[in-house]
Amino acid sequence: MTGTLYGVGVGPGDPELITLKALRILRAAPVLAYPAPETGDSFARIIAAPHLPAGQIEISIRMPFVTERFPVQEVYDRAAEEIGGHLAAGRDVAVLCEGDPFFYGSFMHMWRRLESDFPVEVVPGVTGMSGCWTRANVPITWGNDTLAVLPGTLDEQQLVDRLRETDAAVIMKVGRNLGKVRRAIETAGLLSRAVYVERGTMENERVLPLADCHDATGAYFAMVLIPGQGRRL
Ligand SMILES: C[S@@+](CC[C@H](N)C(=O)[O-])C[C@H]1O[C@@H](n2cnc3c(N)ncnc32)[C@H](O)[C@@H]1O
Repeated sequence: MTGTLYGVGVGPGDPELITLKALRILRAAPVLAYPAPETGDSFARIIAAPHLPAGQIEISIRMPFVTERFPVQEVYDRAAEEIGGHLAAGRDVAVLCEGDPFFYGSFMHMWRRLESDFPVEVVPGVTGMSGCWTRANVPITWGNDTLAVLPGTLDEQQLVDRLRETDAAVIMKVGRNLGKVRRAIETAGLLSRAVYVERGTMENERVLPLADCHDATGAYFAMVLIPGQGRRL
């Protein structure tokens, strides 16, 4: 009997936003794996930490948050091999994922490598964006509003074009792209509605109008919200 690979969404940061199903699996799995920066602690593990029993085997999948020119594939290949070894030996492995695993989650790299050989179960999580718009007190879509989720890694003109055709937007992966994202939002005429959220639901959260945020770069966990203005009864 092989073990099961679990992709466990641990939510946006507040440890109380973990689902009951995630909690059960986190506590029972003999092996945990999680993405982590080159040095320092894993955010996903920090979120889950208050719930973890002692004595689990832990695998850190370490890579820099800026991954250009870094052998990312090799890191994922090696991690998949290590995780696959535990699964083949009959041990369940829970891979922790900030937010939801199937929403820009690094878990998908493990899923793609292992899902044809082992049973997999994915546990959805509260996404970073729903944590952020809740903490920012910004209802994101009303009535017939459409919502675009845009990675800040798109070209400036692509961002402007997509922003012009949607009612509401969430711009993810803001970090080093903050300047470009701000310019695109200004060009699309949306600056007055844009809200910047850093580390939403985490301890050192920051929420402010984008117009008042003069930082050159954003935090790794940062996004911009542009709420819709649809029909309100
Ligand atoms: C690799 S994606 C992971 C998304 C995650 N799986 C989710 O469901 O939200 C990382 C990006 O998510 C956004 N993000 C996720 N959680 C966040 C939070 N708590 N506060 C601010 N931004 C967050 C940031 O834009 C960050 O660059």
